[in-house]
Amino acid sequence: MNLQQLVGIDLPIIQAPMAGVQGSALAVAVSNAGGLGSLPCAMLSPDEMRGELVALTAGTRRPFNVNFFCHAQPREDANREARWRSVLAPYYEELGIDPAAIPSLPNGPGFDAEYADALEEFRPPVVSFHFGLPSPDLVARVKGWGSKILSSATTVDEALWLAARGVDAVIAQGVEAGGHRGMFLTEDLSTQVGTFALVPQIARAVRIPVIAAGGVADAKGVAAAMALGAAGVQVGTSYLLCPECTTSPLHRTALKSDSARQTAVTNVFTGRPARAIVNRIVRELGPVSAAAPMFPLALGAILPLAARAAKDGNTDFVPMWAGQNVSGCRELPAAQITRALADRADRDRGI
Ligand SMILES: Cc1cc2nc3c(=O)[nH]c(=O)nc-3n(C[C@H](O)[C@H](O)[C@H](O)COP(=O)(O)O)c2cc1C
Repeated sequence: MNLQQLVGIDLPIIQAPMAGVQGSALAVAVSNAGGLGSLPCAMLSPDEMRGELVALTAGTRRPFNVNFFCHAQPREDANREARWRSVLAPYYEELGIDPAAIPSLPNGPGFDAEYADALEEFRPPVVSFHFGLPSPDLVARVKGWGSKILSSATTVDEALWLAARGVDAVIAQGVEAGGHRGMFLTEDLSTQVGTFALVPQIARAVRIPVIAAGGVADAKGVAAAMALGAAGVQVGTSYLLCPECTTSPLHRTALKSDSARQTAVTNVFTGRPARAIVNRIVRELGPVSAAAPMFPLALGAILPLAARAAKDGNTDFVPMWAGQNVSGCRELPAAQITRALADRADRDRGI
């Protein structure tokens, strides 16, 4: 079964949910263009999510996806937090930030019963998860009201794990992808492989549709992913310059500059590996730091640095998520990006 049949859309394109850089506007535009628009909820409270879903369902009658992180609640570890802050101390001093005044980040769980209650009012056609799946009772609830369930796999083992738990399709996330790695059965970065290695192996291992994610940025990339056995693609980075995105001006400038050619999988921003444009903090502390607290706790100590630097137009400490292939980033409406990705004529002409 292809992606269009599975979720009732016209084009084999899922707009990747991208927490922090988009809300319902991007999802509405992509769904109305015939792709599957996604609303990321990792940074929304249940009430904020409700507001966005009201806007989303007012803006489109087509299928859409609602996305959640489902990480385990991290253990607070005072020693690790103190160590992390001591690593960051020279930066606080340089930027004139009082470390004692930094609030700790609210330490919420991922998808839980409160989100499920709010979500049930909308019964979205598709719900996708990152970092595995929530508890079996929550998965059963979401399935019970009719949503199709998708989740990311970064290895064949993760795809098999997800398939055994009843997901309707698996998103094969290659290491090229921007943002957080969906990895959940391992923390070993050497297990992370490219989209072209991952998609055919997962397609051979599972009997459900496979969606290719990571590095797909044009119609040729879509065609290549499909030739390798993908039923559709999930594309994030290519949408980052769209007017419907809330990508910050600094992030937009970086994406358009040569610095976007150098990205790395780093844990220094949140505690979990995620691909971002390399900037000063990634270079000086990472890309991987053993001192970073568990996801998402590392972020609390980073945010004041990012905010202060950004105020001065400086990206030294700002997380700027991006995948390895930024060639599809255009300042064009999301509908146009979606149609271009799916354009068979472009593919046939080899553009
Ligand atoms: C800015 C940004 C934010 C992201 N946030 C999320 C998210 O909230 N949830 C999620 O499941 N995936 C997230 N991802 C990962 C995407 O789902 C997807 O794997 C990735 O964008 C595909 O690779 P590409 O960026 O090369 O197109 C994010 C990616 C980016 C670039």
